[in-house]
Amino acid sequence: MSETKAVKPVLKISNLSLERDKKNVIKGLNLEIGKGEIHILMGKNGSGKSTAALSVAGYPGVEIKSGKIFFNGKNINEMSPVDRFKSGIFLAFQNPPMIEGLTVSALIRRSVSSLGILSPIAETKKRLAPFLPILKIDESFLEKQVNKDMSGGEKKKSEILQLVAADPKIAILDEIDSGADIPTIKQFGKVLNLLKKRGTSFIIITHYEKLIKYLAPDYIHILNGGKIVFSGDVKSQAGILKRIEKEGFDSFNEKRTQ
Ligand SMILES: Nc1ncnc2c1ncn2[C@@H]1O[C@H](COP(=O)(O)OP(=O)(O)OP(=O)(O)O)[C@@H](O)[C@H]1O
Ligand SMILES: [Mg+2]
Repeated sequence: MSETKAVKPVLKISNLSLERDKKNVIKGLNLEIGKGEIHILMGKNGSGKSTAALSVAGYPGVEIKSGKIFFNGKNINEMSPVDRFKSGIFLAFQNPPMIEGLTVSALIRRSVSSLGILSPIAETKKRLAPFLPILKIDESFLEKQVNKDMSGGEKKKSEILQLVAADPKIAILDEIDSGADIPTIKQFGKVLNLLKKRGTSFIIITHYEKLIKYLAPDYIHILNGGKIVFSGDVKSQAGILKRIEKEGFDSFNEKRTQ
């Protein structure tokens, strides 16, 4: 997979070891994501998927013990979370925080402004316009406070809106499908496929095959024991999902590429 890529990967994670609260959660993670590729990351609860995602965004609670993260060929281990966002790395948290007093529209405008765009209001409108009908979003939703008085699925919809407004080079979506109903997951699939066509790369963390089905991702990886223990390409996905259902994750205990 990665060895044969002719062009430089957008994101390269090289032998990364991570600690959280003094606990070694990730132990030698390797991953390469090319332009416009969708990679699915699966693994049992507590296996470190969110920890790995947070480290790419530069989350302060996660400490890099060894290894490197490269974004467009540049080592970003020491880059601040804000600079990572500005350079095109977007993370949708598994549990997005509530920001009382800030509306979804104000948050989105603020994040587009932070990208250094000259007319952020017009640009925000332009970025959101193709996606609002797909997501069936109306004005009242945009005026809600971020994650306050929102249902589980609405919180995830708000994350998707922030994603399309940020228009990143790579988006890491941590359980974006959790709490979303099936029609909403279908909407998310449409949005993500459109962004993929425009060249956005994705790491999508999920426990469910529904979103995978709507996305037809390029690769699927399984994290276990702090490492990727299995990577499969688009053709072998159905087999992997069946195997997870039948045997769980612990049968994937050595690195194997299908
Ligand atoms: N805020 C935290 N502080 C300290 N340790 C944490 C924290 N959050 C998670 N951990 C620990 O880090 C390890 C990895 O957790 P992580 O959240 O990355 O797993 P995950 O694969 O995303 O799981 P899930 O599928 O349940 O979301 C677990 O042992 C967990 O207990
Ligand atoms: Mg998680």
